[in-house]
Amino acid sequence: MLVKNISVVAAFVASVCIMPAQAQNNTIVVKANQLKADIQPTMWGVFFEDINMSADGGIYAELVKNRSFEFLKPLAGWTFKGKERKEGDLLILNRQDKQTNNPRFIQVNPNHTAKGDFGIINEGFRGMGIKQGLRYDFSMLYRQPAAGVKVHVELLNAKNEVIGKTTISPVATGKEWRKLEASLEATATEPKGTLAVWFEGSGQMDLDMISLFPGDTWKGRKGGMRADMVQMLADLKPGFLRFPGGCIVEGYDLSQRYQWKKTIGPIEERQLLINRWNFEFAHRPTPDYFQTFGLGFFEYFQLAEDIGAEPLPILNCGMACQFNTAEMVPLDQLDPYVQDALDLIEFANGDASTKWGKVRAQMGHPEPFNLKLLGIGNENWGPQYIDRLQVFTKAIKEKYPKMQLITSAGTDPDGERFDYLNGQLRKMNADIIDEHYYRRPEWFLQNAARYDNYDRNGSKVFAGEYAAQSDKTVSIHNKNNWRAALAEASFMTGLERNADVVVMASYAPLFAHVDGWQWTPDMIWIDNLHVVGTPNYYVQKMFSTNRGTHIVPILKNNAPLAGQDSLYASASVDKTTNELIIKLVNVSANGLQQEIKLDGVSKLSGNARHYVMKASGLDVENSLKEPLAIVPVEEQWKASGKSLKVNLAPHSVNVIRVKHLDLVSFKKAGKME
Ligand code: AHR
Repeated sequence: MLVKNISVVAAFVASVCIMPAQAQNNTIVVKANQLKADIQPTMWGVFFEDINMSADGGIYAELVKNRSFEFLKPLAGWTFKGKERKEGDLLILNRQDKQTNNPRFIQVNPNHTAKGDFGIINEGFRGMGIKQGLRYDFSMLYRQPAAGVKVHVELLNAKNEVIGKTTISPVATGKEWRKLEASLEATATEPKGTLAVWFEGSGQMDLDMISLFPGDTWKGRKGGMRADMVQMLADLKPGFLRFPGGCIVEGYDLSQRYQWKKTIGPIEERQLLINRWNFEFAHRPTPDYFQTFGLGFFEYFQLAEDIGAEPLPILNCGMACQFNTAEMVPLDQLDPYVQDALDLIEFANGDASTKWGKVRAQMGHPEPFNLKLLGIGNENWGPQYIDRLQVFTKAIKEKYPKMQLITSAGTDPDGERFDYLNGQLRKMNADIIDEHYYRRPEWFLQNAARYDNYDRNGSKVFAGEYAAQSDKTVSIHNKNNWRAALAEASFMTGLERNADVVVMASYAPLFAHVDGWQWTPDMIWIDNLHVVGTPNYYVQKMFSTNRGTHIVPILKNNAPLAGQDSLYASASVDKTTNELIIKLVNVSANGLQQEIKLDGVSKLSGNARHYVMKASGLDVENSLKEPLAIVPVEEQWKASGKSLKVNLAPHSVNVIRVKHLDLVSFKKAGKME
């Protein structure tokens, strides 16, 4: 099997190698004192979309599914449990006239019930992950004409045994909705837990927003996010956080588009929307997938701030998904969409005296979020997109001339659509063009030099969505295996080598729940209790945590290393730490002892840190069982003199950091800024 896989890659590698006609010098040269370009702090970022149960059922730590009874089937996720259920015991009511965003609630009418006679059980998102010893915060909105019903809250394991409980006796009466909160501690760990709410006594009680959060959310925020998932993002030290997508921005039709204003403010007033990934793929239907917007725009901005990333919201440009309805708003009715963009900038950056700045301040963030980047449209194409983009651009640049706009180059990195958009956007002098590449691993190798000859003066590039597809785009057979990660790493050296053109890049999609996914491959897999970084994740991490501040040339036979002898490379210096950072990907099945000559460095001293990722085969993946099958390992060796002798393992990604460069030689070369 291994031999077969190696030969597959060797075959496609051979097809892209530029083999020298005659034997040439085998040495790689790094011109360490030639600072070619700044590497933007935004270079390596993350792309977040609520796909694969990434938000609801994922990073948004709410454990109750359909907490407000607003799914198409109001009792989806809930089951009645008890002795017998009489007509009228359990009602779904609708107050459409009073509460249009969250009209439904549930009414229970227990009659002389004992505990266990009358209850509702929530199944969670493919179960609830429960951890022994952890506090769980239960809450619900309720109102009742008279007190008389006790509420028993229980955590259950998969065998329906109680693994945590508390009892509350709501006493307040009247027509006003009130919030009831209680905490309970779990006595056991359970990946597929459920929540039971039992009603004991007699009376009538209206209930809404029945909620359960773990006590260990990120930064301990009530109603917050899963800390283990956020930590994975924080560990990447990402330069930016793109949100909320992806196709989710566009919507199946315009009524289903993502509207940021509907995702802020009190959570019980955030209007739920069917998630388009609920029904997008007939082969992966997910009928219980909705967006509650508990993770809304305020929380996205806050997340970006928490993990030190520039926020990058993407807004609908007045066009729904062109693969679906292709519905679009007439140009003369685009104003509300443009106003949404202007208002978002005010929400993010305005002070508390502005209308939207005040809303942000009231939500608990008086300081601005310093939004600098804004995307208009996702994967939209054609003249209709350009027409709409021009309207947005004019309005935004007039009011906020410094705002950098991200514009769509469509769905593919080549072809008629791409050529048209790329041409038009460059004519418009667009700030940053968002290119997407979902292609086979071979494509990534073949295109590692894509930007070596790109226009250096015009618009910049955002490699906004990319992932090597081990099978094909939208195939359920795509794997997050080493073959794909190796190909991505090779391509990424080309992105970094051209940091003067490519200013941002992000793998996509980011998260997937093992029991609730629609799209593969994905960077991080989760279940209810665990997170697994794929090899692709660790490749991203190797690049993003070893970025450097300036790109320097790394050459073989005087040419950039983009496939010669199966090697792909980029090099940078980090002016803040005085280090040289070399990234070398060896996609060959053979190991290599490689000499790297360092031009412009008068001497090296100290240890070189060498981070290596390699695997026993190209099909190796990380999994819940073996989450760390492929991760970077660190080796150290002594660096001295003016060259490095590096062992490059077969099929390996290598990052070499050499400290204590002789700074004087940089300064003498007059290249240091
Ligand atoms: O990443 C999955 C999807 O791929 C995104 O939603 C979309 O932008 C692209 O087509």
